[in-house]
Amino acid sequence: MLTPTADIVAAARAAGRGVGAFNVIQLEHAEALVAGAEKAGAPVVLQISENAVKYHGALEPIAQATLAVARASTTPVAVHLDHATDVGLVRHAVLLGFGSVMYDASVMSYVDNVAATTEVVRHCHERGVYVEAELGEVGGKDGVHAPGARTDPDEAAAYVASTGVDALAVAVGTSHAMLTRDATVDFGLIERLRATVPVPLVLHGSSGVADDDLRRAVEAGMTKVNIATQLNKAFTAAVRAHLEANPAAVDTRKYLGAGRDAVATEVARLLAVLGA
Ligand code: G3H
Ligand code: ZN
Repeated sequence: MLTPTADIVAAARAAGRGVGAFNVIQLEHAEALVAGAEKAGAPVVLQISENAVKYHGALEPIAQATLAVARASTTPVAVHLDHATDVGLVRHAVLLGFGSVMYDASVMSYVDNVAATTEVVRHCHERGVYVEAELGEVGGKDGVHAPGARTDPDEAAAYVASTGVDALAVAVGTSHAMLTRDATVDFGLIERLRATVPVPLVLHGSSGVADDDLRRAVEAGMTKVNIATQLNKAFTAAVRAHLEANPAAVDTRKYLGAGRDAVATEVARLLAVLGA
């Protein structure tokens, strides 16, 4: 069932569990994420990034499909807009019924980030929508890995107080789009952020984090754990294997179905790692 992100994240935080937040690019991703969550008996966040919207050329078709898949699920499913820099896109997601948005002003100066994010929070909160923001840029979105970025706990606490955001993405050693799971996570910093920042913390670039370190990150204080690349690896490997084994294949359902099954299996496994 479609469930507010606020409810899913708050319940996980209270229980000391992680919430898996996985990216939807095609319809098959949404179907696979829900199948995996149902298999794990866990709630899940389906997130659509601004980059995925650019790929499709519009938000509404992929958003309506994702919302429909979420409504039909037997487990709680939230729908979230990921890494939005365009305020118009945030407003559109709110109108469509998303439970949450991530407004990403992390490349801005602190002062500009606070001003822009505060305005987004005002708009979203008036409409009952939960807002995640980012402070301390988690690199890798542009292919440039910058695992050295760090979020300062005191600045993060001040940022949350000034903007009123509901959840905060922090830089603790991860980087987006890593193909190897060997990021060096700063667990001490996660503990300090957890002690200083009053809202749930979000780990981005979690594909680069090994299973044991995902568990430790949740124990140290992370709640929402964003994973995309790891699932694309699973999807593409299964499609590639299917096409290699069936070189005459032409029915897209055969190889996309293999990719969808592989993602569902990996999602169920990751949700178990996160303690769901
Ligand atoms: O917002 C999405 C994530 O941070 C996913 O990052 O592709 O490195 O797992 P990833
Ligand atoms: Zn991210």
